[in-house]
Amino acid sequence: MEDQSLFYRDTWAEVDLDCIMENVRNMKKHLPEEVELMAVVKANAYGHGDEQVAQVALEGGATYLAVAFLDEAISLRRKGIQAPILVLGASRPEDINVAVKYNLTLTVFQKDWLNQARKILTNKAPIKIHLKLDTGMGRLGIREQSEIVDIEQILQVEKRFYLEGAFTHFATSDELNESYFKEQLERFETMLSWFNIKPKLIHASNSAAALRMPNAHFNGIRYGIGMYGLTPSLEIQDILPFPLKEAFSLHSKLVHVKKVTKGEKISYGATYESNEDEWIGTLPIGYADGWIRKLQGQKVIINGIKVPIVGRICMDQCMIKLPYELPVGTEVTLIGTQGNEHISINDVAEKLETINYEVPCLISSRVPRMYKKSGKLVQVKNSMLV
Ligand SMILES: Cc1ncc(COP(=O)(O)O)c(C=O)c1O
Repeated sequence: MEDQSLFYRDTWAEVDLDCIMENVRNMKKHLPEEVELMAVVKANAYGHGDEQVAQVALEGGATYLAVAFLDEAISLRRKGIQAPILVLGASRPEDINVAVKYNLTLTVFQKDWLNQARKILTNKAPIKIHLKLDTGMGRLGIREQSEIVDIEQILQVEKRFYLEGAFTHFATSDELNESYFKEQLERFETMLSWFNIKPKLIHASNSAAALRMPNAHFNGIRYGIGMYGLTPSLEIQDILPFPLKEAFSLHSKLVHVKKVTKGEKISYGATYESNEDEWIGTLPIGYADGWIRKLQGQKVIINGIKVPIVGRICMDQCMIKLPYELPVGTEVTLIGTQGNEHISINDVAEKLETINYEVPCLISSRVPRMYKKSGKLVQVKNSMLV
């Protein structure tokens, strides 16, 4: 097997683990001491790398991890992560023994699920569950008091389920208008009052709510986007209680440089025509890396100067207009800082007409991730050569 720490193409992402550590520590300081910080590392830690982010978040004060699916949780366990892990999404009842095997916490919101799972459960020791309450997100969760009554009846007789937690998810905590948020919070408090068996861990807040709404901290928060240094929305970016440090950057190098004369065309469809004699550089990154075709025209930084991507983005490559002749091998920043210039994930999201969450998730596993800690390169992960 090839060494995972090597890569043979000059396109890579950098993840600054110090930024993640600082974002976690600042959130810990912002929260009352008894509030647990759950680090949300689903979707390969929003594209940053689940194992690396989980480790640094736990070092920084997180006490729980959260992922979307069982496979993500199992993958973390196989990488040696021992902290409690909550699977936020729906798991199949027939997979309960796998969850037990890996000591995972499951989200539950249906009595039928519990009835099916208990028939399959071979373990004698209890498995931890959190009940999901739908207070207005309309995605997963219990909505009626009768459902809680039914579930509690099962829990009374089936002691192999340990009701550790109850939680909900806000739909609008990143919006300045707080009216729907308040409705959800009230509904959550009402629903919690329906419980006879009081769960130990009550959590509702995502990053936006954790940052802005102290009345929704309960005794746990789920910290995702803010941990990566990204604002939960542009609406609230100016009212955050501490600065968030963006951890992810994206880089490439020129692999070819040429002079084209006025009127020459570039890339598929021949949609770009040079206005004058121009220097054009080719980068080894394309839509298969998540640098999708909609980013045509997006700026990148070379030699401290912002220049545009010209012509259509290909599957593995794209072309940029150079400010002047530059040598093959010159470094290009697609996300991050070079000299006095900066391109943020928010800038890329704006060009894509989407939210910042989507951008690092889009950068595919074909792009190796380089991890930095205390300013030093500590690990390179190239998923291609695993
Ligand atoms: C249930 C749940 N909790 C918490 C989070 C983390 O949210 P954020 O990234 O906004 O902090 C998510 C992410 O979408 C989620 O689905």
